[in-house]
Amino acid sequence: MAIDLTEETITAAVQGTFAGATDARLRELFVSLVQHLHDFARETRLTSEEWFTAVDFLERVGHLSSPTRQEFVLLSDILGLSVLVDRINHAHSSATESTLLGPFYTEGRPRAENGADISGGVTGMPLFFSGAVVDTEGRPVADAHVDTWHSDGEGFYDVQQADRLNGETAMRALLTTDADGRFWFRSIVPRYYPVPTDGPCGEIIHAAGRSPVRPGHIHFRLHANDYESLVTMLFRDDDPYLERDAVFGVKSSLVAEFLQHGAGETAPDGTEMSEPFQTVEWTFALAPDRR
Ligand code: BEZ
Ligand code: FE
Repeated sequence: MAIDLTEETITAAVQGTFAGATDARLRELFVSLVQHLHDFARETRLTSEEWFTAVDFLERVGHLSSPTRQEFVLLSDILGLSVLVDRINHAHSSATESTLLGPFYTEGRPRAENGADISGGVTGMPLFFSGAVVDTEGRPVADAHVDTWHSDGEGFYDVQQADRLNGETAMRALLTTDADGRFWFRSIVPRYYPVPTDGPCGEIIHAAGRSPVRPGHIHFRLHANDYESLVTMLFRDDDPYLERDAVFGVKSSLVAEFLQHGAGETAPDGTEMSEPFQTVEWTFALAPDRR
């Protein structure tokens, strides 16, 4: 390896150390990463103090990351990297558009029967969701697994109010489509909310004077044999933050009508409602699995 490396020669020297990697893709990724990182430092004339600050920042992001608090994912989200990677990988498909997963998905969600109330007892305006899963030709997909999760009417997920809920899950479930590709559930209407700003990512948001708010939405993650998995979300059509999502995830094709109904009307499950409620109907199209 060369010694006495300079600003001009160090990049090629570091890249050369990856020449022996047997994994060609790993080699390609690191050679490119080193190029861009070094160019960044040269272009910005990065100071030693700024480098220390950045390392300390990443260390704090790592310390805060856990299965229920994914600060590294949030960092990727607020820098637009999550949505960019999603766009690169799902650019031209006639399936329902995908978008970012976000940090509030959890494996520990209960299975629910179609028609179940998945609110977990959290109060809010009732919401009746009627979904269908089809292929890109419009044919129903039976036995698809549909994960859903969302915030409450004040913008909080269950994992953010674990004390109040005694650690119980709420506003999330795993459903399965019936023979006609349909699934349906009752819950409560979600609202816009700020991404968590009490950690290092919040420092960036505040320093930039950015809004931390995401428009109200319901998350979905769909899996079915022979189809590509889909991670997506549906946004409230009446949300004031649709045009300024803190993590850049809104697509017009994912804006859904949250239809308002008055007290005294009948809900889709036949319940005579004594309070106002909303309904959403949506069809998700899955792309064939090309692997
Ligand atoms: C979410 O939609 O749950 C989310 C996505 C990115 C950052 C924070 C939250
Ligand atoms: Fe969310």
